[in-house]
Amino acid sequence: MVISSNFLSTSSSTQGPSEVDIEINSSKIPHSNKERRAHVYLKKWKGKEYLNTVNIDPSNHLKITHPPTSNSKSHYLSLEIFENHRPFTSLGLPGYCLTKPLGKASIELNSDSQKNLLITDDQIETLTHVDKPTAINRPSITYFGRLLLAGGPEIIKSLLSRIFSYLMTVDKVQSLFNLFGPHYARSEPTLPNLLDDLLNSICAIDYKREGNQISWIANWDNYQFDRETSLPNVTVIARKEQETLTIESIKVQFRGEKEQIILPDQTTPDELKLAIYMARSSFAIKGEAEIHLAEGHLLPGIFAHTFLTAISKENPLYAVTARYLENLEFINWLGGNGIIFGKGSVIELSALSDRSVAELIIRYMIEKSDFLNYKPIEPISKTHHRAIVGKVHYETLLNYFSSFICDNWDKIVPFKNEIFEWSESLNRKLSSIPKIMPDPNSFSKEIEGKRLALCLASIVNQTTFLHWSSHARQELLTHVDLASLSLSNKGRGPNGMPVKFGNTPKEAANLQLKISRTLLNFKAHRFVNYAHPDLLKRINRIRDLYIPYPLKEMFVTTEI
Ligand SMILES: [Fe+2]
Repeated sequence: MVISSNFLSTSSSTQGPSEVDIEINSSKIPHSNKERRAHVYLKKWKGKEYLNTVNIDPSNHLKITHPPTSNSKSHYLSLEIFENHRPFTSLGLPGYCLTKPLGKASIELNSDSQKNLLITDDQIETLTHVDKPTAINRPSITYFGRLLLAGGPEIIKSLLSRIFSYLMTVDKVQSLFNLFGPHYARSEPTLPNLLDDLLNSICAIDYKREGNQISWIANWDNYQFDRETSLPNVTVIARKEQETLTIESIKVQFRGEKEQIILPDQTTPDELKLAIYMARSSFAIKGEAEIHLAEGHLLPGIFAHTFLTAISKENPLYAVTARYLENLEFINWLGGNGIIFGKGSVIELSALSDRSVAELIIRYMIEKSDFLNYKPIEPISKTHHRAIVGKVHYETLLNYFSSFICDNWDKIVPFKNEIFEWSESLNRKLSSIPKIMPDPNSFSKEIEGKRLALCLASIVNQTTFLHWSSHARQELLTHVDLASLSLSNKGRGPNGMPVKFGNTPKEAANLQLKISRTLLNFKAHRFVNYAHPDLLKRINRIRDLYIPYPLKEMFVTTEI
């Protein structure tokens, strides 16, 4: 048995060994007086260290003592939860104890965050596994035509590369993919280009700001690896002077080794290029897993599935929302079958194990699931276009849905039972998603109406601008010499010097190019052609604020 739908509230301190109070919310572990306990382990990259075994009280609370957390580093604990049985005590015999496993869970303890996140085995299964869409939610025949046009030529190149594998090198694989089909812009490995990647491309992960210092961190210490000389921890530090950002250092650390600090003006051009290559490669993996897959695909996938199941076509919300969720379940199902994520997929070209990829994705889904407190990324400079436009887009959506709900409230009220069912199913699937209607009998314009507007704005934001702006900026991955999902031997040759393509195996280069090019080739339906006319009108009024993004190319839904 595994634990279902867990999210927990905890409290901990950063002074000395800390105690954390965890509540397990699980339908499969109801409150009970049965004797239940958990073995607690501290996860380390070399394995796990046993910490202690604790009791779970009848109300499903447990207290864990763990080493102190620091401001920048999380602890990952794993829990094995079991129930004790003493079958012979009823016969008056001594209490010989049998244990029955109830499930496993992992928890991130982070002094930076308000909440510590628990990820259970069944969440790995239910949140990254997407069911085959029902007939009604399957795409039209034209969708498959578009998919074939995008992927067909790349599949042919990939097959040729495999058939003639004995003749191929990574250079030749790259040339084969460049032979025909769209050409994707190259952005040479320079510091200004790296900065643009960190602000606006698939590498644009969440940043940390302390005064004028901005950091982007990809730290893999707590994730299990398949191999150890492939995926380094990378920190890029930039300083903001007036309106200008300048990269000051790139820190690179391979597993088990000392951190290398690269200062741009004190290193050779080749070493700087290699540091930029490693930064792009590491951040592209994090960006793919977090901002593209978690926030752009799987989290809105939960909203889409539950919305299309619970909300009828007669409900006024359907006409203003469903079009932004179309084909999402299908692409998530397709992507989850080993194409984009899952076993043997493109993300797994990295050193991360299957479970690590799932944990990375789920952790970010949980982090971004609270639509009531969602805040768009704060822009840090005039060139932080993704954040600047992202803010405008989200605010426009929120105003639009707030007005729609306010103006149509009387028509929405008769459908409150559907909305309650939708809200319940969302929260059942991922309990960190707040309820739109916490009480089935309470449905007011001022409270539940506002929560509904926040929810719809958040979903449509995810499937339009947020997804499109990261999806459309994956072109780095169409050039293996600019970023690799699978660099090997620390990107160096036998003489210790940086090498082109970072020792990426040719099979990995083949898969990286096939998938990234197919994703970019796909002609998705455009927002300007398929969005609701009332929303389009609002966005057209402020279209200049979307510059430099080509608004006419924005997707109307996450369909690729
Ligand atoms: Fe996508």
